[in-house]
Amino acid sequence: MEKFRIFGGARLAGTVTISGAKNAALPCLAATLLTAEPVYLLGLPRVRDILTMEKVLAILGEHCEHQNGTTTVVMGRATETHAPYELVRTMRASVLVLGPLVAARQRARVALPGGCAIGARPIDFHLAALAQLGADIRLEHGDVVAEAPNGLRGAEITFPKVTVTGTENLLMAASLAVGRTVLRGCAREPEVCDLAAMLQAMGARISGAGTDTIEVEGVGELGGCTHRVIPDRIEAGTYLMAALLLGDGVRIEGCVPAHLAAVLELLAAAGATFTTEEHALVVPRQDRPLSGFSLTTREYPGFPTDLQAQAMALATQAQGRSEVVETIFENRFHHVLELKRLGAEITVEGHRAIVQGPRRLQGTTVMASDLRASAALVLAGLVAEGETIVDRIYHLDRGYEAMEAKLARLGARIARFNPGPFV
Ligand code: UD1
Repeated sequence: MEKFRIFGGARLAGTVTISGAKNAALPCLAATLLTAEPVYLLGLPRVRDILTMEKVLAILGEHCEHQNGTTTVVMGRATETHAPYELVRTMRASVLVLGPLVAARQRARVALPGGCAIGARPIDFHLAALAQLGADIRLEHGDVVAEAPNGLRGAEITFPKVTVTGTENLLMAASLAVGRTVLRGCAREPEVCDLAAMLQAMGARISGAGTDTIEVEGVGELGGCTHRVIPDRIEAGTYLMAALLLGDGVRIEGCVPAHLAAVLELLAAAGATFTTEEHALVVPRQDRPLSGFSLTTREYPGFPTDLQAQAMALATQAQGRSEVVETIFENRFHHVLELKRLGAEITVEGHRAIVQGPRRLQGTTVMASDLRASAALVLAGLVAEGETIVDRIYHLDRGYEAMEAKLARLGARIARFNPGPFV
């Protein structure tokens, strides 16, 4: 099992270029199921979740070809409708094929994703909303089966709670439904807007993406398109925190700072200095440590839960008390115990963690438990004295493209190694 070895304390300087957003790329890949024409997707990150989605599409009869940064998705056998458990269990977001399959092929069979490390994460809102579009939904041998032999029909749907992939699934399904769909309580994430932009380029009629009410006028068919996915705001936010911890002048290139507004506002209030350009964040060496800060994770445009763990690593080096409240997921504090093993002082009460900083971190072996927790451990390892081994980095590989190479180019002392099967 591969690990990272990090020697902490190295200063970071130079330019890091942000990859395309995994969470935009996944629904965009799923949306290719809605058309028989080729789709050209630009800027997909080369991370494991994308490879998994491409495998799911291959099972569903599509081919993905890669050339010069463009992924071409071509429909082959458009008859398969079953996304099996072997793939879905490795990536919950496989559930994004449910909406497009039932809309375009009148039938979908998708294994029910199992529990995952950051809470129960059910898909009941996806299913209830698809049922409102007229899909017949049932559970068979651990798979969700959705059928609409006569096609889907537009409806007025209110999500009981904001769900990102739920909103995306419904946007895709409603694009091919007969008549008008009004979706209320929608996620407003930039990734939802990106999917809407791609669907519009395919011929869908969508208005209101980026607000909590989205209207979709169904069309008879969708065509191919060329679409570039937006940059990964979570990756950009992670490098921003690395630069605040250890930077001697870091330029984070190819990101959209506007997508990080809540994060930038909070960090600026804690004393961080940086400048923003339309597509870059420039972080000079910090004159003094940040002061402790309070953050509460919220749906976009609030502070993203996907940066909560990394912010906690940052808080270990801030002056005084920080408070981190997680409201989106239960059980998203697995990184706390590992950060404590490195020397952080953190107490957790329910959904609230209190971090006392600054604390001297000392390298040891730590275990990654999920994608974003892994990034937090890497940040802590970059700061810690001596050697830190981050185990189970396959979590990190799901969503960060070439993280060790990007950090090493900035001057970090980090390497991937494989100790062999028995270690
Ligand atoms: C997406 C992101 C993930 C991010 C999360 C929240 C992708 C591929 N993943 O995940 O990185 O952390 O948004 O920003 O885009 N819920 C239900 N029933 C449902 C759906 C959701 O109870 O049917 C609950 C979840 O358990 C969670 C909350 O709603 O507590 C929000 O989850 P949701 O927005 O759906 O997260 P994902 O779309 O899975």
